Amino acid sequence: MTSRPVIDDLSSFWMPFTANRQFKASPRLLESAKGMYYRTTDGREVLDGCAGLWCVNAGHSRDEIVAAITQQLSTLDFAPTFQMGHPLAFEAATKVAELMPAGLDRIFFTNSGSESVDTALKIALAYHRARGEGQRTRLIGRERGYHGVGFGGISVGGIAPNRKTFSGALLPAVDHLPHTHNLEHNAFTKGQPAWGAHLADELERIVTLHDASTIAAVIVEPVAGSTGVLIPPQGYLQKLRDICTKHGILLIFDEVITGFGRLGKATASEYFGVTPDLLTMAKAINNASIPMGAVAASRNIHDTVVNAGAQGAIELFHGYTYSAHPAAAAAAVATLDLYRRDGLFERAASLAPAFEAAAHAMRDAKHVKDIRNLGMIAGIELEPRDGAPGARAYEAFVKCFEAGVLVRFTGDILAFSPPLIIDEEQIQHIFKTVRDVLATVQ
Ligand SMILES: Cc1ncc(COP(=O)(O)O)c(C=O)c1O
Repeated sequence: MTSRPVIDDLSSFWMPFTANRQFKASPRLLESAKGMYYRTTDGREVLDGCAGLWCVNAGHSRDEIVAAITQQLSTLDFAPTFQMGHPLAFEAATKVAELMPAGLDRIFFTNSGSESVDTALKIALAYHRARGEGQRTRLIGRERGYHGVGFGGISVGGIAPNRKTFSGALLPAVDHLPHTHNLEHNAFTKGQPAWGAHLADELERIVTLHDASTIAAVIVEPVAGSTGVLIPPQGYLQKLRDICTKHGILLIFDEVITGFGRLGKATASEYFGVTPDLLTMAKAINNASIPMGAVAASRNIHDTVVNAGAQGAIELFHGYTYSAHPAAAAAAVATLDLYRRDGLFERAASLAPAFEAAAHAMRDAKHVKDIRNLGMIAGIELEPRDGAPGARAYEAFVKCFEAGVLVRFTGDILAFSPPLIIDEEQIQHIFKTVRDVLATVQ
């Protein structure tokens, strides 16, 4: 393989969620990837401690997925799915449906997590309207929630910097549950914290305030990732489920990071034994090889919306040019086959105890304020530097990268979510590197 010359003009690409000026003054450029490792343009190997962006669950550049995409692009590069179809779209939907919680077997394809969230919110409104309760338009999110960057997603999301610039244009009928993060009660918990299920009761307060007849849906991440790894307290998700059911409110689980093995099961819903009405996914659906997302809807929601339309009329005025793009669909089929063949969800479940032990062994490392984990997700919260929130974790991230390990940081929290093909030695290496780096961070 001939490598391309390293580009020296970085100005044209306006980078997403990046401090552009800082980055371009001192860039980190990746050139290739295989298995557990990235390779940088200056020829260094970097162990991937976060599966890219929580998405490359089967490891990088898997031959089976690459072959499926290549073959597909030379056979059928694009096909519309508006009043048309192609067989792989249906096959991919069937394969995704097989992994969903029982009953959630109607799959709407999108191209990203953000689109999946906006799609799920729209389906929720369409469902209530189809059953004659069109006044149910209010959406309930949660503080610190991350649901992508569409106007719907940032409206129900609860991360202040993602919202403030756009605050005048957020959806009007939205409310938020309180988040569940509380170090006074839950610091250094392994797995699900015992304290905090009662926070779900806040939904009753919101229902009392607005009346259930105005509320369409509640959306939460079963495990919140992008806000800095928040694990749901024991019993919390079930409580939300019960309150939603009681009031006829739809429950949406945003499983963009928890879907496809991250907790050792196909979905967090399966892991927790709590079934939502709509489930959003993206990222690992096809190992992040081609942009793709999806919403799984219960058969009842699907049938209600579809049967409400007149025969011959489009039932849901929603969709994307690239919904079920042939290359993305081929990648999804190959990826889901690979997960099964290699038993990667089971592998994640069996690695989780070693991952938990390695993460919590960091308790006495410098600056560490909390450690939390579930499945193959861990977060290490650092004491913020005086007057410079986020600076310490950023410095740790840069130094880890220079030391050959990729981690994520958000605020002062380091997040870990490696590909599920990781081995125990590599797990140890990630945390040892972080420990050594933290010792050098001011
Ligand atoms: C829970 C959740 N929802 C939605 C998104 C948005 O996904 P995307 O960046 O593909 O739009 C993310 C991305 O990290 C996520 O973690």
